[in-house]
Amino acid sequence: MPPDLSGGSTVAPHRAAAPTPVDRPLALPARLGHVLCLDDFEAAARRHLPAPVFAYVSGGVERNQSLRANERAFDDYEFVTRVLIDTSKRSTETTLLGRTWSAPFGIAPMGISALSAYRGDLVLTQAAARENLPMIMSGSSLIRMEEIAKANPQAWFQAYLPGAEAEIVALVERVKAAGYGTLVVTLDASIASNRENNIRAGFSTPLRPSVRLAWEGLTHPRWLFGTFLKTIARHGMPHFENNYARRGAPILSASVLRDFSDRGHLGWQHIRMIRKMWPGQMVVKGILDVRDARLSIENGADGIIVSNHGGRQLDGTVSPMRVLPRIVQACPEVPVMIDSGFRRGTDVLKALALGARFVFVGRPFNYAASVAGEAGVRKAISLLREEVSRDMAMLGVTTVADIRDDFLMPRHAGAGAPV
Ligand code: GLV
Repeated sequence: MPPDLSGGSTVAPHRAAAPTPVDRPLALPARLGHVLCLDDFEAAARRHLPAPVFAYVSGGVERNQSLRANERAFDDYEFVTRVLIDTSKRSTETTLLGRTWSAPFGIAPMGISALSAYRGDLVLTQAAARENLPMIMSGSSLIRMEEIAKANPQAWFQAYLPGAEAEIVALVERVKAAGYGTLVVTLDASIASNRENNIRAGFSTPLRPSVRLAWEGLTHPRWLFGTFLKTIARHGMPHFENNYARRGAPILSASVLRDFSDRGHLGWQHIRMIRKMWPGQMVVKGILDVRDARLSIENGADGIIVSNHGGRQLDGTVSPMRVLPRIVQACPEVPVMIDSGFRRGTDVLKALALGARFVFVGRPFNYAASVAGEAGVRKAISLLREEVSRDMAMLGVTTVADIRDDFLMPRHAGAGAPV
């Protein structure tokens, strides 16, 4: 663990023995003075971003059933709190895959973050490094993975597997050479999902120039000048940089189709193949079925992320919170992590109580990066960490490991029952 990446924790109280000074104030611009929680960043980003870009980040698929189910899943459980427990020295620190982080959550991978925020992936990873949290770099991104690994050697890399074996090998070799220690392989995107909302809002990848897009840019000048034109002026036209070992399509194009190889034919043999050539930790993401969770372990995964891709793949897919307990029970030998819909400290605590070892949060950090760059992301991190810490005190626990399912009660008979 390089000492230069461990600072920046801002939540109080943390362990008294390890004070972590804030190296930079987290002041947000005055226009964001109303931000009190992660959802407030979403409202700010809705105003700040052109509608097609906001739609891409915020949207789900078809009728948004899974997107809504992810939000509602937390209502299935209520807390049973304890009293008169000395929580004055509680800590949100969490050990995961051999490393101790400042909180039980990290930044989920998000595609094309550098379109919604200036140097988005870089901002996210720098904030995560300063706050000592894991950040997962998306393979569907516009900044080269090598730049992110240099800025934050603790970042994880998330790959969408190319369809051809030779391209998988080349991509994994590139991730290895870039210095990543943890590779996340996303398995729930075998084909492109039906993002009707994106089409309706005028979003496509690559973006196709149109009068509507130009108008959206002009009516969102802070984004146009502060993100889009600044990116083009300083770094050139962004391209998909990390889907393959080679460079992909430019983000803005009248004709080029986004590289999207059909992965529908891939199987567990490809996970075995990656396991053989990948010396670091391998995490698989997008698991919802216990059988797949077991297969992940049998094929060499060191960890599992239970996820429905933030409700962005098959609409109507079960919320990860509902299947979490049975996957945890079936997979005691690896850390089971989770994402999709987490916005509050209470959400995080509920997942931990059901046995998740760690939670990943996506969209809110993207919104925070869009509206306020690194300061925004660090603010979002400290807001969520403060919620976790405060909620732990009210629950009556001093360490993350103490959060167990006896602190939860299903709201309805049958909630939490295997689906
Ligand atoms: C990328 O992962 C996306 O869901 O858009």
